[in-house]
Amino acid sequence: MPSVARFVGHVESVEDLSDLLSDSRFTAIPKWVLGGGSNIVLLNDFPGLVLLNQIRGIDVREQGDEVWITVGAGECWHDLVRFTARSNWSGLENLSLIPGSVGAAPVQNIGAYGVELADVFQHLDAVHLGSGEKRIFSREQCQFSYRDSFFKQTKGEFFIVSVTLKLSKKYQPKIDYHGIQAALEQRAWVNPSVLQMSDLISEIRAIKLPDPIHVPNAGSFFKNPVVPETELPRLRADHPDIVSFPQANHKVKIAAGWLIEQCGWKGKRVGQVGTYAKQALVLVNYGVRNGQEIIEFAEQIKTDVKSTFGIELEIEPQLIGSTEGLARQY
Ligand code: EPU
Repeated sequence: MPSVARFVGHVESVEDLSDLLSDSRFTAIPKWVLGGGSNIVLLNDFPGLVLLNQIRGIDVREQGDEVWITVGAGECWHDLVRFTARSNWSGLENLSLIPGSVGAAPVQNIGAYGVELADVFQHLDAVHLGSGEKRIFSREQCQFSYRDSFFKQTKGEFFIVSVTLKLSKKYQPKIDYHGIQAALEQRAWVNPSVLQMSDLISEIRAIKLPDPIHVPNAGSFFKNPVVPETELPRLRADHPDIVSFPQANHKVKIAAGWLIEQCGWKGKRVGQVGTYAKQALVLVNYGVRNGQEIIEFAEQIKTDVKSTFGIELEIEPQLIGSTEGLARQY
């Protein structure tokens, strides 16, 4: 069974949103804001109003070397990245080819290749769905952390209208993430332009990650677990090759893709769900019409990783709907 919403509202402006929120048919029912839909798992029908965020527009203010852009939340993220890269404004190029909308970017604080949204984020405009009140959120108020934010925690209480970012006309390529330096050398690009870096990141991503348009997936299905560095000796004793990256505050990030691969799940398929053959952290939907089957598959991976490494994996995409009948609650 496909997941079906009771009502769908197309929102192209704040006025559209106000009209929908004051409509008596919708006041008492649950609401959910949908951007590109590339980072959600629908567990069953949605008994309320789905608000399709289609607010467009890009406003640019240049101030010396700084470029401030305010972008409608319904704009496509990758189109925005390409627009800024073609303009030679730096800041977003390492975040090329991430699926989804601009409004979804702060919700999970999108990140890739050594950069995350929080690095360029200034503020956002939002509307509280319960009261209709307009609010501006500063970076601090968004409470960004690794693939997390105030908006992810409050699960759709706010409708994000626009996002304001600060980019730069000066460019210092960020090439620390493993693989980027080698890819640059391969092309003999010593001082890549912003656009070249965007091209490069897009190529790297396209090799490793499936395009959700052709192969349905929600990107990384689990977060990379962050554990105290005191755990490393224990892990290395049993698994000398474990892939880990030092973090602040005496923590280490463990590559969840590696953990999953070691447990034999890479490229494995059960019914209509599997992991991607080139990246075990990505779950692929081969034809499931309901997210519960995906969660059950993910649970098997979690159980294996927990029993092999003693590490608890956390699901990254947002789960929408009830998990009644499943062993765990989300
Ligand atoms: N690895 C394996 N086997 C695998 C996959 C990964 O051994 O099947 C190991 C490799 O050693 C590799 C390491 O894991 O060196 C890290 O892999 P990769 O560089 O592909 O990145 P990741 O940690 O798996 C994260 C993000 C991605 C982001 C990339 C690049 C998370 C949850 N995921 O993946 O973000 O594109 O880094 O920065 O942090 C997403 O959030 O949806 C997403 C795709």
